[in-house]
Amino acid sequence: KPEFSILVIGGDGIGPEVTAEATAVLDVISTHPKSRAAFKLLPRLFGGCSIDAHGTPVTDEVLETGRKADAILMGAVGGPKWDGMRRGFEGPEGATLRLRDVTQVYANLRPCEYFAAGNSPLRDELVRGAKFIVLRENCGGPFYGPKEETPDYASDLWSYKRSEIERIARMAAHLALSSASPKKTVTSCDKANVLASSRLWRKVVQETIEKEFPEVEIVHQLADSATTLMMMRPTLFNGVILADNTFGDILSDLAGVIPGTLGVLPSACLADIPAQKWGDDPVKGFYEPVHGSAPDIAGKGIANPIGAILSVALMLRYSFGMEEEAAAVEKAVNSTLDAGFRTKDMRGTTSTKDMGSLVREALQQLLDQ
Ligand code: NAD
Ligand code: IPM
Ligand code: MN
Repeated sequence: KPEFSILVIGGDGIGPEVTAEATAVLDVISTHPKSRAAFKLLPRLFGGCSIDAHGTPVTDEVLETGRKADAILMGAVGGPKWDGMRRGFEGPEGATLRLRDVTQVYANLRPCEYFAAGNSPLRDELVRGAKFIVLRENCGGPFYGPKEETPDYASDLWSYKRSEIERIARMAAHLALSSASPKKTVTSCDKANVLASSRLWRKVVQETIEKEFPEVEIVHQLADSATTLMMMRPTLFNGVILADNTFGDILSDLAGVIPGTLGVLPSACLADIPAQKWGDDPVKGFYEPVHGSAPDIAGKGIANPIGAILSVALMLRYSFGMEEEAAAVEKAVNSTLDAGFRTKDMRGTTSTKDMGSLVREALQQLLDQ
């Protein structure tokens, strides 16, 4: 039976609260009599808590552990206590960027599916049937370009190389083709009307997909109007929404309006095309919910752990080729929500811990079948 190693970063704020529920799901899977894999969890300090303990948001040892591990699971980092340290890569968030960079997880998949009827502020008939993946370029753009910061002038260089756009365009087409939906569409969002980097983006996306994946339909949409369309007609985007690092960051948080909370959105950052089946070599992945450390609700035991738990489902699917276990986790989450259990962000009263154990009970039953 293979053993997969996972760097586990609870992080700051609600990070450790939701991560505990996510690793407990991995325990249910590895200890089940029918289990086909073991997980070696490597918990480490990272972010603000690492600044407090070691004077740096990430030690070399943790970066090295992340480089060697088969996968990384993270809660979230940052918070008001460390807000003065955001310059360059020195603060908690900068450490996340460094870890993404050293592991070259260039493809950030942020799936959004409408679930739990009644929780969206949008009308139910608008959001019903919405199912897309925001695919965010994760290792380039102004997040990583050279920076200048003086009291009177600051700049972040927003640049892309052809090769960076080609690899993310291939990933987008691959995801569109492998989705169950009959619609094989990539909607690429940019600002080609004003930004030079967007003009290269649009050209290379078009050329790469057209040449290598002729079955995939490509739609180019300006990123600003894409936001209105996503709220007015979310199903229009069914398939893959491709965007660079900045636009993808914004569009993926906006997608939280569709389920009515950021707390349920998972994400997977991948270094390669996903594992296709059980037995394939693990694909390096960095899994984290889309949401942040939510300082406003930290320590209250009310955070929604679903985004973190669904990130574990993505890990099982994309890094380890464990599709059945991944689907079982997703089904367990949906049946728990369908049974009416909701955390506060979904207008319920269920605690983080109770939500976690209800999902685990449902999962246990599914695995027993
Ligand atoms: P946030 O995502 O932390 O919170 C936005 C709102 O959503 C808050 O009202 C919060 O209570 C709510 N929310 C988020 N996750 C929730 C959950 N699981 N359950 C219930 N409610 C939830 O965004 P922010 O407030 O802009 O950022 C807070 C801090 O987190 C900042 O320091 C930011 O840099 C950091 N951050 C970190 C990551 C990461 O490490 N991956 C991601 C985003 C933001
Ligand atoms: C996210 C976050 C991060 C990002 C920050 C905390 C570095 O907002 O994961 O979406 O911008 O990538
Ligand atoms: Mn973000």
